[in-house]
Amino acid sequence: MIPKIHCPRSTITNFLVISLFLNFVSFYVYRETLLQVNGQHNHQARSVPTAVVEMDSPTFKGMSNSKDSQGKINPKIIETDEAQPQNSKRKAYLLVTMYRSGSTLTGEMFNRNPDFLYYFEPLAIFGNNNAPLQKIKMLNDTFHCHAPNAENFKKYANPKESTTKNCLNEGVCMYQLSTRFCKPPFCWNPEAPATQCKKQCSPPGSDRAKLDHMERICKEEVDTVAIKTIRFLDLKRLHPFYADSYPIDFKAVFLVRDPRSMYHSRKKIHLELLHGKANEMGGFMKMLEQECDLVAQNLELLSNTRTLESRKTFSLRYEDIARDPIKYSKAIYNFLGEEFNDEVSGFLHDAIAPPKNKLDKSKATYTTSRAINETTILNGWRLDKMVNPSELNQIQEKCAKMMKLAGYLPIKPDQKRDLTIESVDIKSKYGNL
Ligand SMILES: *[C@@H]1O[C@H](CO)[C@@H](O)[C@H](O)[C@H]1NC(C)=O
Ligand SMILES: *[C@@H]1O[C@H](CO)[C@@H](O)[C@H](O)[C@H]1NC(C)=O
Repeated sequence: MIPKIHCPRSTITNFLVISLFLNFVSFYVYRETLLQVNGQHNHQARSVPTAVVEMDSPTFKGMSNSKDSQGKINPKIIETDEAQPQNSKRKAYLLVTMYRSGSTLTGEMFNRNPDFLYYFEPLAIFGNNNAPLQKIKMLNDTFHCHAPNAENFKKYANPKESTTKNCLNEGVCMYQLSTRFCKPPFCWNPEAPATQCKKQCSPPGSDRAKLDHMERICKEEVDTVAIKTIRFLDLKRLHPFYADSYPIDFKAVFLVRDPRSMYHSRKKIHLELLHGKANEMGGFMKMLEQECDLVAQNLELLSNTRTLESRKTFSLRYEDIARDPIKYSKAIYNFLGEEFNDEVSGFLHDAIAPPKNKLDKSKATYTTSRAINETTILNGWRLDKMVNPSELNQIQEKCAKMMKLAGYLPIKPDQKRDLTIESVDIKSKYGNL
């Protein structure tokens, strides 16, 4: 039996279309690092994503905020005499998640809010390097209104990765995925979608004024910095931020997803979009195992309700938010102490359910057969042969603990196609909702 879907199908579809694009960008970076690490990089694959990203641009156009894209100066950005109340504590939000975990909606909650300064994966300069202390430093600096300038951390980057070059050129890695940085005064090209923003406007890396302006906005116009990262999964190492003595009011959002779905998605992109080889999946499996171990540790930490971490972290599953994005948006705003007013609900509605004319544009690149429903959210990985029986067993063995804690139910390979056997426990309460 298929349980009821709580929000309109078009909402879910649009959310996932946007999600596909943004996560694809992240994924490419991830895959690149992984192949570097395994010494399996191939140059043919490197050229593919640009084309794919270009193809996706109409979707991104749909996301740009038409109110501010007239080529005029956004008064909100240049008006600096509206000082922040001196006594209110600054706030910092960190979205902690993994590749192909469906982080985009949560990211959009930060990205679309004009009262937040949002950075999409500034830690990309670190590539696959661990460097936790340096990452903490970059996050702390950014929370304290220093722009996360990739140049300052290039010692810790892998010079051979193309991501490193991109980050150094961009100044702030993936700046073009923050809506704000594709609008005046950062980018004067009206209606610049992310893909065009990068081409048609000078990157912060070559234009110091843009970095200065990020810092000015942070100090003078907003009191909240929000960052999304897939490069810092270990919550206990974020303790300096959770500590009550930290001068900034820090909160985290911790997003997990069924590891079988993440693996499915990573493999599908690796093989189909990037023309990778199946025998390169060993590195992906190893990465997944490490991620599962850390997620299990995090969930144990969060299960102790007396810890600072559990008080200051909103924990959720992709499978839940994807099925009801608005309900979860409200819950997250509520948890953060942010008001979910008409303005917020308006821009979030735009981000996750664009108006019809914008929707039509995205149809040019995404056929309706891509439509996402409850079955694909929960069981998408079971509908094709991408995850083979041996991989399924490996994932369920290596991720057993994490799966148990997060309500992902192991199934036998011969049960894979029988969707009456559930692989996600959606009836039990999970996380903060
Ligand atoms: C964060 O940066 C501030 C100011 O630069 C510094 O005083 C503080 O020690 C740093 N905190 C952490 C946790 O790194
Ligand atoms: C959900 O989508 C899948 C794949 O597009 C399709 O095969 C299935 O019939 C759909 N199910 C429902 C209930 O709409």
